[in-house]
Amino acid sequence: MLILEHLHQQLLQLELGEADAVLESHLERAAGEDRAYSEFLGDLLDAEVLARRARYMRTRLSLAHLPYQKTLAQFDLAFQPSVDARQIAELRTLRFVQEAQNVIFLGPPGVGKTHLAVALAIESISAGFGAYFVTAHQLIADLGQASRERRLDRRLRVYTAPKVLIIDEMGYLPLDEEGATILFQLVSARYERGSIVLTSNKSYGDWGSIFGDPIIATAILDRLLHHSTTVNIRGESYRLKDRRKAGFPPPASLPPG
Ligand SMILES: Nc1ncnc2c1ncn2[C@@H]1O[C@H](COP(=O)(O)OP(=O)(O)OP(=O)(O)O)[C@@H](O)[C@H]1O
Ligand SMILES: [Mg+2]
Repeated sequence: MLILEHLHQQLLQLELGEADAVLESHLERAAGEDRAYSEFLGDLLDAEVLARRARYMRTRLSLAHLPYQKTLAQFDLAFQPSVDARQIAELRTLRFVQEAQNVIFLGPPGVGKTHLAVALAIESISAGFGAYFVTAHQLIADLGQASRERRLDRRLRVYTAPKVLIIDEMGYLPLDEEGATILFQLVSARYERGSIVLTSNKSYGDWGSIFGDPIIATAILDRLLHHSTTVNIRGESYRLKDRRKAGFPPPASLPPG
């Protein structure tokens, strides 16, 4: 009994909390199944490693502020033939993260842009890279306020520190001149240092109208696209497919298809 107590103390001192928690059950199992000492120790350490990994993922995922958690495996490539499976497989290698390249998902509503961006964030986190998700609108509002309060440089670090920054929904709302300038600063600060994964419903030709200024739009796009992969998604909204399956007609404003 004393030995067991001592063991618990030592495991806790070494911060092996999970091994501490499962010690008795593993001891019983080892005795009952006549397991080798090495197997017993291996299983105990496996439990610790697994628990740490799960804790790491939980913490990093919650720091990333993802709107939902969906993986690449959950993306149905057959539903969206315009998405090139090989391109997605290449992105999955995360070479783009190592090389600080950008990824831009373009397409109409509901085709899986955010899903794929979130999935790449999860892959990155699971490989040990920090990721942070923000909508273009939140980003500009947050940095705009920081700028007015003369603490833009400090606040910018929130968006420059993670190896992967996801900027979602660029173009749904127009940006004023201040917003465009801030975005330019951010894209410049991350240029060749960290990846931006961006989603937009606007093709590059329409970016001038998002920013209200073709010159700044060109300057931003120039940096963004220099080392980048564009995934153009065409096709039907996945949300609409779900609606139809449930027996609802598509919204009246959309042509039947
Ligand atoms: N090919 C797909 N396979 C599985 N689920 C999908 C697929 N495409 C989209 N979805 C799902 O449909 C929903 C809408 O997709 P998503 O959020 O990625 O849309 P989006 O392209 O970002 O649209 P929006 O521009 O309106 O934000 C999500 O729940 C997503 O997981
Ligand atoms: Mg989206």
